[in-house]
Amino acid sequence: MSGICEGRVAVVTGAGRGIGRVYALDLAREGARVVVNDLGGSNDGSGADTGAAQSVVDEIVAAGGTAVANHDDVSDWDGARRLVDQAVTTFGGLDVLVNNAGILRDRTLASMSAEEWDAVIRVHLRGTFAPSHFAAQYWRARHKETGAPTGARLINTTSASGLYGAFGQSNYGAAKAGIASFTLITAMELARHGVTVNAVAPVASTRLTEDVMSEGLRATLVPEHVAPLVVWLAGAESAGVTGRVFDVGGGRISVVESWRLGPEVTRADGVWDPAELGAIIPGLVADAAPNPDRTGRVPAPRP
Ligand SMILES: NC(=O)c1ccc[n+]([C@@H]2O[C@H](COP(=O)([O-])OP(=O)(O)OC[C@H]3O[C@@H](n4cnc5c(N)ncnc54)[C@H](O)[C@@H]3O)[C@@H](O)[C@H]2O)c1
Repeated sequence: MSGICEGRVAVVTGAGRGIGRVYALDLAREGARVVVNDLGGSNDGSGADTGAAQSVVDEIVAAGGTAVANHDDVSDWDGARRLVDQAVTTFGGLDVLVNNAGILRDRTLASMSAEEWDAVIRVHLRGTFAPSHFAAQYWRARHKETGAPTGARLINTTSASGLYGAFGQSNYGAAKAGIASFTLITAMELARHGVTVNAVAPVASTRLTEDVMSEGLRATLVPEHVAPLVVWLAGAESAGVTGRVFDVGGGRISVVESWRLGPEVTRADGVWDPAELGAIIPGLVADAAPNPDRTGRVPAPRP
């Protein structure tokens, strides 16, 4: 197979189903050798089934591509190390890590248990950090050894929930917002090794969105709409793009603009009297752009 990822080695986490499966298939079709990771659990993270990753490997091989399965839990420290090691020992290196694995345990704040909070934070945040850590160690060593920038790619998965907010998802949204910040910071750190770091906030019908998308919407939002951007980010041509977050789905690709300072006031002697802020803060807030709605769009100002 030849394509824009020819000769590259990619790891895709949570690639046994949903969006990750299509990333793995499309990366392989574009020439990458792929490690298909999936624990194979249910959408709340319970259970495990090695069949999920293996069936995607079988699909890739049947189409003429190259892939191996990995069944480790990405949030397990030794599992994450094994995942990165498997790419290096099986295919001789690692060029692309797509952190995609995820679970949901939606609950409003007052009803959420510590377990529901911890499970979601663990899979998304630690499950992004741990494989990225071992990949970064490998890329740093490769850079030192060869003296050449690695041309490697770290691609993370955030969500509209983390960027704009979604009712009932304080655990998931907090984790996904953390992944967006993790993306900005690690892009700064890894630039010296020639590694780019970006994140995607996908929208696609999968088992995770079964409860929130209508039948009609599900048909128009498929993982195949999301994968081309990730494949492009994985290739050589994206070298100049780093520290960015993309909102992608249904044929639309948007660059998400991050938190930034809005209107401000400064007091020369530095210490505000809380009693004087009542005359200042409401006006400051009124002058600021409103937060985006849950689709990421800023409502038009009232005439
Ligand atoms: N579908 C959407 O519209 C949407 C929207 C925003 C963000 N996302 C994010 O996109 C990613 C993919 O979601 P999806 O919709 O394809 O869901 P999915 O449930 O279809 O796929 C996720 C896969 O991750 C695997 N997984 C879960 N925990 C794992 C772990 N600890 N180790 C290894 N594998 C694990 C699951 O077994 C599953 O196969 C997730 O990070 C999700 O939060 C999806």
